[in-house]
Amino acid sequence: MADIFWWVIFPYITVTIMILGLLYRYAFRQLTWAAPSTNFFEKKWLRIGSPLFHYGIVLAFIGHVMGMVIPMEFYQGLGISDHLYHIGAIWGGGLAGLMVVAGLIILLIRKITIDPVRIKAGFADFFTVLALLFVAGTGTYMTIIFNTTVVAYEYRETIGPWFRSLFVFMPKYELMSGVPFIFKLHVLSAFALFASIPFTKLVHIFSFPIRYPARSPQQYRSRSNYRRQG
Ligand code: HEM
Repeated sequence: MADIFWWVIFPYITVTIMILGLLYRYAFRQLTWAAPSTNFFEKKWLRIGSPLFHYGIVLAFIGHVMGMVIPMEFYQGLGISDHLYHIGAIWGGGLAGLMVVAGLIILLIRKITIDPVRIKAGFADFFTVLALLFVAGTGTYMTIIFNTTVVAYEYRETIGPWFRSLFVFMPKYELMSGVPFIFKLHVLSAFALFASIPFTKLVHIFSFPIRYPARSPQQYRSRSNYRRQG
């Protein structure tokens, strides 16, 4: 019964909260659909922490698509051995994970130590950084430490097929029963994080700036060169 709750009911509940919350926020709270930058208050650490996190999370996302969405048979069909796949996943995923975690730690320390940034940050901001740090931290531990000190766990035979089965509404929850605890914790905390997205600045994940290229250019003038005419 517990397996049905955690690997069927919980994922669908959290994703439903995410979708309905996003639709509600888009329909009735559009003005809050942004992640205003705090670079006005402090630039140096933001320019290190933010790119580290954002480029790292994009790499990790690509790694998740390669590991959870693309079936292992596809790689075997290409002649890529499981061993070679895992070497790539550990090195590529490891780098991505370290970038995400390092970026988040820098952004968190900045949020705590820079007064105007701390004052501007609300509970949801601290929750988001700490929740991401937990999910990414467990993920990076799995990729770098668990896979090299315990076993290179073949999640493409269990977590991957289960994850894909959710999309066709035929959840194969039995595949998750033998998955190592740390992997289960990572996946469940990720789904809990999905449910929190509509209530935080993470909504900006879904702001696809497709209109940006067509936007009229914004002109900036430096204050010092601006001379009052006449
Ligand atoms: C907010 C969502 C998530 C974040 C931020 C996240 C983050 C990470 C990070 C940083 C890593 C280590 C780097 C890497 O291997 O790519 C990782 C590994 C992993 N994640 Fe996630 N993850 C998320 C959601 C998920 C979900 C939904 C699943 C499964 C359905 C998942 C399964 C895994 C697995 C199996 C690994 C280990 C990969 C390996 O050992 O090669 N993650 N995750």
